Amino acid sequence: MEAPAPPAPTEENDSGDWSPDSWRSRPAKQLADYPDPLAVERVERRLAGSEPLVEIADIIHLRAALSRVAAGEAFILQGGDCAESFAEFNADKVRATYNLLLRMGAELRAASPIDVVHLARIAGQFAKPRSSATETIGEVTLPSYRGDAVNGPAFNARARVHDPKRLLDAHRQAQVTIELLHAFASASYADLPRVAAEVGLQAPPHAVTMFTSHEALLLNYEQALTRFDEASEQYWATSGHMLWIGDRTRQLDGAHVEYARGIGNPVGLKCGPSIAADDLLRLIDRLDPHDRAGKLVLIGRFGAKLVDEHLPPLMRAVKRSGRNVVWTIDPMHGNTCTVQGLKTRMVSDIIREISTFFAVAEAEGVHPGGIHLEMTGSDVTECLGGSGRLARADLERRYLTGCDPRLNERQALDVAHEVAGLIAHASASRARAA
Ligand code: PEP
Ligand code: CO
Repeated sequence: MEAPAPPAPTEENDSGDWSPDSWRSRPAKQLADYPDPLAVERVERRLAGSEPLVEIADIIHLRAALSRVAAGEAFILQGGDCAESFAEFNADKVRATYNLLLRMGAELRAASPIDVVHLARIAGQFAKPRSSATETIGEVTLPSYRGDAVNGPAFNARARVHDPKRLLDAHRQAQVTIELLHAFASASYADLPRVAAEVGLQAPPHAVTMFTSHEALLLNYEQALTRFDEASEQYWATSGHMLWIGDRTRQLDGAHVEYARGIGNPVGLKCGPSIAADDLLRLIDRLDPHDRAGKLVLIGRFGAKLVDEHLPPLMRAVKRSGRNVVWTIDPMHGNTCTVQGLKTRMVSDIIREISTFFAVAEAEGVHPGGIHLEMTGSDVTECLGGSGRLARADLERRYLTGCDPRLNERQALDVAHEVAGLIAHASASRARAA
């Protein structure tokens, strides 16, 4: 496929000297380190010649939905695996995630008149930033596992080599996943009245659009799937509807921010305890210089212990700057602990961080715009607590994640139930204030 001619600057694409590959001249963290550059180029060419995974019209539709979140009229329900896996992949697993998001969304809509934007962490969530470049077991040290798009999880030297052909496998799985989501969307239309009745949803059921999202970590993959669209005079990442920048790769002059600033897609930005208010304001300016509603989603992830200290000054500074952004909370990544040698999270900490997020948002006069969860429709035993009272002794029974611990179906529904109450309370306070 021929590279599109660079566009003339317009209000929408006026991103200075940006191009789909301008990230290559910036310092980049957490990228794969391939032994054979020619093999990488061959893979990138194949990806560049492929059809977009998602339609640009649907990305624009998501931007419109997110602008309603920015206006306080809708709520983002974002969730899925920490890392998608090649080995665990099957249609039932995708259906379980789909149905779980649908069910949770219905629970939220039953609690208040707010609209829900369903955003799955799926069809591209194959690469992981790691705190350590290597892993040591006994006397053996190997490169860390970085997600199935980069290397294999098995602890042996061959599996841990960074292999660019895995990008093609990830791309194929993403394509099949998106086809499955479309199929479930038509099938679920028939199911919606049942789901609505189960949660006591009064509003007439309407078709749910399931958008896709993932961390934009592997920039050569993202670049190869970036397309210029004549109608909008804009470049779009066609690997998913929304991409986000992780907490470890959000350096202002780094490669990941450089890539994300030039695409038309909505962009998420993880904000952990190390971000200061001025850094955040500079990042907002860089990523969304035109202050477009629905473009930028700030995803706080502080941990239940730190959120009430770190979130208020950030929310206040952003509000004072007048910027039109959405705030959501990821109550997973600041609440990871180790029990009996396994990474886990307490449902009570997850709920506490979400409740604090709602309380801070109310105090600051900001719309609490959504939640971001690691969860699965399968019956895993990775997080502790919830109404099923999963205890330490249960952890090993079905601990299946290749990366972070996920809420199982029942725990995710517990969280949705709590959030439904918080949304209802927030809507009632807003109505009183109006
Ligand atoms: C993630 O969402 O899987 C992740 C790695 O998050 P963070 O960048 O916030 O640590
Ligand atoms: Co994770």
